[in-house]
Amino acid sequence: MSSTMAHAGTDANPPSHEPAGLGPHLLQLHGLGAGELRGVLARARLYAGHDADGARDPSGWRERLAGRVVANLFFEDSTRTRVSFALAAERLGARVVNLTSVGSSVSKGESLVDTALNVAAMGVDAVVMRHRSSGAPHLVARALAQRAGDFGAGGLSSAGSGAGVPSIVNAGDGKHEHPTQGLLDIYTVAQRTGRLDAFDLAGLTVGIVGDIASSRVARSNIAGLVTLGARVVCIGPPTLVPRGLASLGATLTSDLDGVLPGLDAINVLRIQFERHESAGAPGPSAANPGLVTGNVIASVREYHELYGLTVARLRAMKPLAVVMHPGPINRGVEISSEAADSVQSAVLAQVRHGVAVRMAVLERCLVG
Ligand code: NCD
Repeated sequence: MSSTMAHAGTDANPPSHEPAGLGPHLLQLHGLGAGELRGVLARARLYAGHDADGARDPSGWRERLAGRVVANLFFEDSTRTRVSFALAAERLGARVVNLTSVGSSVSKGESLVDTALNVAAMGVDAVVMRHRSSGAPHLVARALAQRAGDFGAGGLSSAGSGAGVPSIVNAGDGKHEHPTQGLLDIYTVAQRTGRLDAFDLAGLTVGIVGDIASSRVARSNIAGLVTLGARVVCIGPPTLVPRGLASLGATLTSDLDGVLPGLDAINVLRIQFERHESAGAPGPSAANPGLVTGNVIASVREYHELYGLTVARLRAMKPLAVVMHPGPINRGVEISSEAADSVQSAVLAQVRHGVAVRMAVLERCLVG
């Protein structure tokens, strides 16, 4: 796998000339227009049961992707995202096949692109993929396009993409993007702030606190939130909030307490020790809660004091401020248990909305 992965890039800047959108593929939110985002979010509203018309008739949903096959191709660990995509596909009537690097030929050295081409050649309609390299799904989408003849419309696949080439849906690529997480976070902000009618987030300020440097969730949040009119503030120590993020349209600060009273929502991120330069070395664990590797924070305790979302900080926020976290949560590090379980917490609502958003995305990519 290594030679191909080298082309995929290792940082948060995959090739910029790649197609962005909700055509057959969903590779990233950056570059998508407000209309495209609102279209898919409005569709998710139906599947989440929030449609104002009450037009929710699940009986026909299984027809929408009947006969289609969605392959989950996860080269990194996942709990929520993989299950959520599987449930979303099944609720629309698609069949789901699961492939992980453990137990597949990836562990025998097969390249990412070869694995993806082989899965595609079996006639799947969509490949939902997660990979530790930024740009990996873009690389696969390009390779599939170059080999389109091998997946021609007359072939086994009945792909909704028309050409017989499967849709690629990015379920997280390195530090780059996690577009469906961005969409479900945006959906949650809109739902909790009463903006489901038009998904217009003008006038709202959303904070993102924590390890933004390593976070694909943050990049997708920033792209989508800014496009829909929200103001985004990235908060954390300078080691975790690189100045270049300002070019994405966010403002940056290390003063959490200074900005808290002005926030309508806050998205709290885990410190992603496994993505730091010391990757491979262990981060904090239940057995060693204070263990810190790398140089991004001095200690977990200090980090919690300066940037942890505690109950005291929650009280400093607006009473209806929305507390989000993409999971997995490290309680007592980036967020206290009391804050994670508070009435303002939308953590489980995010997970629920995730299925609806992924139904909308799969439908959009596969049948337009
Ligand atoms: C995130 C991920 O894997 O990118 N989790 C998720 O998909 N819900 C965030 C993380 O790993 O911290």
